[in-house]
Amino acid sequence: IDLDAFITGLPKAELHLHIEGSLEPELMFALARRNGVAIPYADVEAVRAAYAFGNLQDFLDIYYAGADVLRTRQDFHDLAAAYFDRAAADGVVHAEIMFDPQTHTARGIPFAEVIEGLLSARAEAEARHGMTSLLILSFLRHLSEEDAVATLAEAEPWLDRIAAVGLDSSEMGHPPEKFARVFATAREKGLRLVAHAGEEGPPAYVMQALDLLKVDRIDHGNRALEDAALVERLARDGMTLTVCPLSNLKLCVIDAIEDHPIDRMLTLGLKATINSDDPAYFGGYVADNYRAVAGARGLDRGQLATLARNSFTGSFLPAEAVAAHL
Ligand code: ADE
Ligand code: ZN
Repeated sequence: IDLDAFITGLPKAELHLHIEGSLEPELMFALARRNGVAIPYADVEAVRAAYAFGNLQDFLDIYYAGADVLRTRQDFHDLAAAYFDRAAADGVVHAEIMFDPQTHTARGIPFAEVIEGLLSARAEAEARHGMTSLLILSFLRHLSEEDAVATLAEAEPWLDRIAAVGLDSSEMGHPPEKFARVFATAREKGLRLVAHAGEEGPPAYVMQALDLLKVDRIDHGNRALEDAALVERLARDGMTLTVCPLSNLKLCVIDAIEDHPIDRMLTLGLKATINSDDPAYFGGYVADNYRAVAGARGLDRGQLATLARNSFTGSFLPAEAVAAHL
């Protein structure tokens, strides 16, 4: 079989996906119409044309504006259902999905509307595709730690249906140490922990995520490669990195896909995985990300299988479920 079919057919877990980042322009327009929300684009083509970013903040400004069309439980359900259908077609059998409640609660959308919509889509995906999923509540790091603490308190009735907390949004100037207390609280409540680190921020932010937040995974982690001792530590600890090649390209973390360090990460002994981050904004779902680096870096099937295997061993599934996927 050809490499395309091999990649699609490879059972994969997706570990780094922002559900708000899976909002395709077509659904954005449909929800804008359904909710009577004005959007600053003439048509779907104009939306796609606006997706040219010089850095993370350029993207975030457009991403938070796009999320304004999400208003009701049904909207969150439809958003997540579209993602699950698309991911299933790419051979994703398990997904760990981040959501940013503060983006919605700050606009007056109740936390319950957001999470209940996501949970109903999750149940539907399990029934329709046999696809399992977990939710990761991600805190916005440009907001205060007190705001994150309040968000975790709001989530309390649903904590049995939330696997982990995460940390995303503008990295520079918002180091992990800012959130040490709320992460400690989340850990005491039995939640797993992840944080974006080393996407734009320096290796020191990756170290803070490890030492101060005590994360179970690093989201991105690219800039850890600048520090040999840190690389050695990540490799020794078997720390999973949720790497996002097309995101790295679109957000100018790399200059060209041919420069992507995914194979270097594997050679260094790092437990890298491939993920889509914000597929509606970065031009591809998870299989597109595998294909992009396979082509540009000449990855062989063994390397692709290792990346897929890492996605299960780096997941928050119970050990028996992980073993069943290997
Ligand atoms: N929110 C959505 N995608 C993100 C990314 N790649 N980095 C930081 N915050 C995000
Ligand atoms: Zn991300």
